[in-house]
Amino acid sequence: MKARSKPLSQNKHLIRWVEKMAELCTPRDIHWVDGSEEENAQLCAKLVDSGTFIKLNEDLWPGCYYARSDASDVARVEDRTFICSLSKYAAGPTNNWVAPLDMKKMLKRLFKGCMAGRTMYVLPFCMGPLDSPISQIGVELTDSPYVVVSMRIMARIGMPVFKEIDRGEKRVIPCMHSVGAPLARGQKDVPWPCNPEKYIAHFPETREIWSFGSGYGGNALLGKKCVALRIASNIARDEGWLAEHMLILGVEDPQGEKTYVAAAFPSACGKTNFAMLIPPKPFAEKGWKVWTVGDDIAWIRPDQNGRLYAINPETGFFGVAPGTSVKTNPNAMATLAKNTIFTNVALTPEGGVWWEGMTEKPPARLIDWQGNEWTPQMAKETGAKAAHPNARFTAPASQCPTIDPDWEKPEGVPISALIFGGRRASTIPLVFQAFNWSGAVYVGATMGSEMTAAAAGTIGKVRRDPMAMLPFCGYNMGDYFRHWIALQRNLSQTPRVFHVNWFRKDDKGKFLWPGYGENMRVLKWIVDRARGRAIGKETPIGWMPNYEDLDWTGLDFSKERFEELQKFDRKAWRSEVIGHEELFLDLHEGLPKEMVYERELLICRI
Ligand code: GTP
Ligand code: SPV
Ligand code: MN
Repeated sequence: MKARSKPLSQNKHLIRWVEKMAELCTPRDIHWVDGSEEENAQLCAKLVDSGTFIKLNEDLWPGCYYARSDASDVARVEDRTFICSLSKYAAGPTNNWVAPLDMKKMLKRLFKGCMAGRTMYVLPFCMGPLDSPISQIGVELTDSPYVVVSMRIMARIGMPVFKEIDRGEKRVIPCMHSVGAPLARGQKDVPWPCNPEKYIAHFPETREIWSFGSGYGGNALLGKKCVALRIASNIARDEGWLAEHMLILGVEDPQGEKTYVAAAFPSACGKTNFAMLIPPKPFAEKGWKVWTVGDDIAWIRPDQNGRLYAINPETGFFGVAPGTSVKTNPNAMATLAKNTIFTNVALTPEGGVWWEGMTEKPPARLIDWQGNEWTPQMAKETGAKAAHPNARFTAPASQCPTIDPDWEKPEGVPISALIFGGRRASTIPLVFQAFNWSGAVYVGATMGSEMTAAAAGTIGKVRRDPMAMLPFCGYNMGDYFRHWIALQRNLSQTPRVFHVNWFRKDDKGKFLWPGYGENMRVLKWIVDRARGRAIGKETPIGWMPNYEDLDWTGLDFSKERFEELQKFDRKAWRSEVIGHEELFLDLHEGLPKEMVYERELLICRI
């Protein structure tokens, strides 16, 4: 494809910056991305040519492509992620920090000539609806066409964004990205170029991002975690709003009233599934319906009347494939049926895709995510997975059957409840409600979760993941808690706050709770509580439903089992609170006093 080297923007600063960065990275050519269908088709064809993409069977998977990453580039790299604020304190103890000048020096060295033999794409993107005052604009310079076609699904990109830049009213966030694999003259490219040395660096004061060495998800699609969470959390702190790792959904009740909630679960802990929940049949028949606004990121801000409103800054879902099926998440299956990019799933002989959990019985023969032959028999013997546990689909949100009619409203949707949740095999009950706002901030701040494949690291270990933002908060975590506490002072209505855990297990290691669509029973209680029409009982950790307070129609779930699921175990909570203390010790310098008092009160109660 011929590169479009003529600038699509009149903005002198942008043009000058692109020139300067091209001098540094020495790409073969520069392509200004207009975001059109034709351009996208050409980029996909180019990706097929270079072996990055395999076009899936058009009859089975229309408009879909398949990519296999390098085996070393399959997830976010938290230990290579840096918040380079002027002071170390500003980044806080939970972030990796390097002084900005030192990091810049290192990056300049790495980026020197890093795009040789490749095209540098000038990719303008807007997080949030183009006509929304809340939206943020960025320009990503990247040498990865995979990133361009993925960002086209995940964000608003191209010509309309250049127009917005040329209006000159919004500050542009400059984002540098390179896979870090320059090509010498005549050198043949590999399907997934990347570099063993990786840096995901953020500069909060100058609002810049530099990402090197990875082509994968949150490391490379810079609008997502880098802009919409790490940089946006800094902007949000300055401007009095919240940038959160939360899904947004709307619950329509039988009266036809809608209640919107936002929920923070750590990576690979159920946001996409919850956002697309389909109520069990008896609920649906009564008129309960769940609408999807977003599945990963929420920007939440008080309006002029002190009511919280949230937007989803994205336009697509970058969802975990394994475990997704017509049984667990039919809405996701419908969403990804066309125009979707699959990364690190398995390939079927018919030119389709498969992953663990997609069907009960695996196909007889597959090519696995690393390009090797795979059979169910081999898997039994070696335990080899056909799809990587962090294999993902990149699908347009507009294709979701339950997408909320208001999902692109510039002012967002009103939020009545917030939910925190982790993946916890023990101790944490299915659901409880925090007593009040500072108690709620404490519940969010001390959230724990077992680690998943979404980030490189030890899987299964419980770590504290405050508000599911540990890897995404772009500043000092103590200041972040203070910001949360302060926010409520400007609210006329405080949202009700809950904690859920779909993942509690019995002594045989089996999930106690069926989860997925059945989570509607918990969601109904939450919505009813938020609207003041459900009962709860006081316990040392918060309000809990009695067995009778949940609607059990259509599910055979005994009172005994429910009590096991909701059990408050004094001994386990004592060690849980010690876990809170460990986090607080790390954060001691910046911790707001409310957190210390809340902890003391909790200890007294248990
Ligand atoms: P990120 O995209 O990484 O932020 O993840 P996410 O929070 O959107 O998680 P997702 O919904 O993709 O779920 C991750 C995994 O948890 C999948 O394997 C799901 O099948 C599983 N899961 C989701 N909801 C439930 C549930 O209610 N119960 C159980 N047992 N598993 C669930
Ligand atoms: C997560 O890890 O929380 C994700 C996937 O949503 S990624 O975009 O890779 O960060
Ligand atoms: Mn996520």
